[in-house]
Amino acid sequence: MSANTLNWTYQAVKMRYKQIADKILHPHLKWVHFDGRRPWLDTKHPKIILTLQFFGKGVRDLNIAAHGRDGTALPCRIFGAGEPVAGRQDYEDRPIGLRSRVRLRVDFPAEGPVTLYETDTGTELLSLDPQIVYPAFLFDLVQELHGEFAPDILKNFVETGTLFGHTALHASYWFDTVTTIELASKLHAMARSTLAHRDNITCVRGNSAEALPRVIQKLDGPSVFFLDAHWSGDATVDWGSSPWGGYPVDTAQIEDTDLENADRQVPLMQELKTIATDHAAPAIVLIDDWAAIGQTDNGFKGEDWRNLDRRTLTGWMTEHPRTRRHFPLDAKRYVWVLNAS
Ligand SMILES: C[S@@+](CC[C@H](N)C(=O)[O-])C[C@H]1O[C@@H](n2cnc3c(N)ncnc32)[C@H](O)[C@@H]1O
Repeated sequence: MSANTLNWTYQAVKMRYKQIADKILHPHLKWVHFDGRRPWLDTKHPKIILTLQFFGKGVRDLNIAAHGRDGTALPCRIFGAGEPVAGRQDYEDRPIGLRSRVRLRVDFPAEGPVTLYETDTGTELLSLDPQIVYPAFLFDLVQELHGEFAPDILKNFVETGTLFGHTALHASYWFDTVTTIELASKLHAMARSTLAHRDNITCVRGNSAEALPRVIQKLDGPSVFFLDAHWSGDATVDWGSSPWGGYPVDTAQIEDTDLENADRQVPLMQELKTIATDHAAPAIVLIDDWAAIGQTDNGFKGEDWRNLDRRTLTGWMTEHPRTRRHFPLDAKRYVWVLNAS
């Protein structure tokens, strides 16, 4: 069959934001620090600034350059040593002849990873690979529980909190239907356009606590719910003091001044109750960010999850007549499996 007899069009996925996976390729490179927030690449403005700390013989005379996957030279501007990086003062007291700090800006190509290398020897130092995040924990869980619900569990996937749509995109290749709910208008609009080529994805705009009953009404059969809606910071946050670093966009919280801070930020309890009352078929519910429950300032200052408490929640699940079982998936996530009602 020749290529032009194929009756479909391929549409490349253009995620605007990708997470940069960094891999240190040389033992003299000790750490990498990205300016600003967590290392997300904005492909519309594909430049990042980072600081590298070296320790070892010969590291004071490094000449660093960058190339793309095919070896093409890329713009890489060195700013000297830069200021010491907060929280990264290690190596400051080591012998001066054996340490160096380099601050630089790298301009990414349209696609693919960037490798930093030492020009005199060609030694590779660091690779920076922009990626669509793959939540392996989620799809591993689906694999693990698949037998219990086979073949139906791959019917419906519902995500609360779309962000960029990375998880929804992957889910659309596993499940018959994917529904993802996002409160922030800009993020919803961006995800709608990015995911438009996947005709089994529905992007819903709104507060998941309010939108879920309508979404559930349209589902037929068992579902996997990925509960990940919560305020994840915006430009008002002091990201410099955050151990986590945040996303490169503003995320949303419910705008209702009558609600307590935590109730504006975290709709989880309402989501769980709605699933239990409205979704009659069996379900697997995966709660993300379990470790943040009951805490404040967990990932950044101002984050508030005090409207819930883990012990009460697990007690509630134990008592619930629909509970098949519940268990921690890992330190950050919790699973609730529901029988049909
Ligand atoms: C941690 S991010 C979601 C990440 C996404 N699930 C993924 O796997 O890539 C949380 C998102 O929830 C959104 N959000 C916050 N409160 C919400 C609510 N009440 N309803 C729906 N979305 C909400 C935020 O705007 C943010 O985009």
